[in-house]
Amino acid sequence: MIFEWSSDASVAMARGEAACLMISEAQVQGEGLPADWAARVRLLSAAGLFSGKLGQVYILPVMEQPVVILAGCGKGQMGMHELRQLMAQTAKAAYRLKAAALVVQIPVALGGRAGALKAEKAGQAIAEGLVLGSYHRRQYKLEQAAYPGIDTVLLRMEGKSEAAEEEAWRQGIKRGQAFGEAVNLARDLTNRPGNLLTPSGLAVAAIEIAERHGLPAEVLDERELAFKGMGGLLAVGSGSVNPPRMIVIRYQGTNQWENAVGIVGKGVTFDTGGISLKRAPGMESMHSDMAGAAAVLAVMDALGHLRPKVNVIMLIPAAENMPAANAFKPGDIITTLSGRTIEIINTDAEGRIILGDALTYAREWEVQRIIDVATLTGAVVSILGDVATGAVTNDQAFLEELLAASRLSGEQIWPLPVYPEFREMLTSEVADLRNAAGRYGAASTAGLFIGEFAEGLPWVHLDIAGTAFLSAERGMNPKGATGVMVRTLLEYLLSAAAEPDRRSPEG
Ligand code: BES
Ligand code: MN
Ligand code: ZN
Repeated sequence: MIFEWSSDASVAMARGEAACLMISEAQVQGEGLPADWAARVRLLSAAGLFSGKLGQVYILPVMEQPVVILAGCGKGQMGMHELRQLMAQTAKAAYRLKAAALVVQIPVALGGRAGALKAEKAGQAIAEGLVLGSYHRRQYKLEQAAYPGIDTVLLRMEGKSEAAEEEAWRQGIKRGQAFGEAVNLARDLTNRPGNLLTPSGLAVAAIEIAERHGLPAEVLDERELAFKGMGGLLAVGSGSVNPPRMIVIRYQGTNQWENAVGIVGKGVTFDTGGISLKRAPGMESMHSDMAGAAAVLAVMDALGHLRPKVNVIMLIPAAENMPAANAFKPGDIITTLSGRTIEIINTDAEGRIILGDALTYAREWEVQRIIDVATLTGAVVSILGDVATGAVTNDQAFLEELLAASRLSGEQIWPLPVYPEFREMLTSEVADLRNAAGRYGAASTAGLFIGEFAEGLPWVHLDIAGTAFLSAERGMNPKGATGVMVRTLLEYLLSAAAEPDRRSPEG
């Protein structure tokens, strides 16, 4: 999707096949609508078809081009979430119309000097919403759809704005587009079926992204994993003919490699449960067990585009969890990269094992803090449904920073309790840890297992098992992969770039 800019109304309208007009309830009642629209809108209002209510979208068939999409702005002034949501609905309407070009008319009251939002925030919300709302899952069918989606969006400002303000709009749109496209990339990777995305396939996707931006990358194959001693990742991957990989990409945004953040994503390209086999119903969606990996990889893609002044290292432990003659088994005792041993109770609790090795490896890259993103537990789905991501941390202040970022992105995060009793449930008689501790507090115990491998570094775990993959479309999120946490991580990392002092040792 290409974003263009025009302040000339006639050019803009001529270019678009669909044009979006944002209209408030007050305007429907007759305040300040352009004369040519006022009559038509009032007619629709009288017929009960369009009232300007927040989020309402109405396709107005008109004889002349372009077709008009009326978008309701409601009563008050819109915030980022309302605007993002409205633009997602607009993109969906344009998609239904099979429009190649879309013109969005931006009212003066929306952002910038006259509006409720800063121009940069308004621009971001608009671009993000349009890109997110235009996502469609790839279909593998004999007959391919001919319509490729919206290719050009033309933004037209009402009224004149100063050069500085226009620059703020442009910056916002650039950011929103990069955020939105990163989310769609994560969705695409996560939606790929297990046979078409194996651990080495995920590594290929990662290398492509790294090379596109000139970022240094490293992929450890099974021989190198054995040489390094990543016994956790090797054990989980041992049952598959598609061997495991450790994937690393580095983004250096400042002169010195300092205050680096490690972002770690669970990359189980298919989770059968292994020898502790899952039951059949629902197993088909377990190709999405690499949604955490997709999220952190997509974050690196956006960093490559936006080039903020932060230092980030991405790690993906990638494996396919299969039952086989050479698969790891309940009762096995394995030695991880950290030297800690794990007693395997249940081979379906595989995520925490591979993430443990990844956290240990992250420490070798001199990170100052770690965030892991993982479709880790069914238990978090019982607690938070598909509505919020669960968080486990060893550093409340660090979690607060992520929660602040999530308030900007609108991706909801809820902290899970970390009582010492939960940690104690992970003790084993024969090894340093056991990998499963029963049903009680299972989302907390799973998170705390990973936290052991942070070894005191500030760490936050985000359990996206409920939020990464939806059984039905909801709001801006399509059915299937959502790309959740991509925008929250990016908001966090970009805010860290804006105020570097915050993370210096002196505080
Ligand atoms: N990948 C699953 C968790 C999951 C469940 C993700 C539902 C998405 C939707 C994970 O590897 C798993 O199997 N967890 C088990 C752990 C248990 C055996 C201790 C679970 O939560 O049931
Ligand atoms: Mn599992
Ligand atoms: Zn899993």
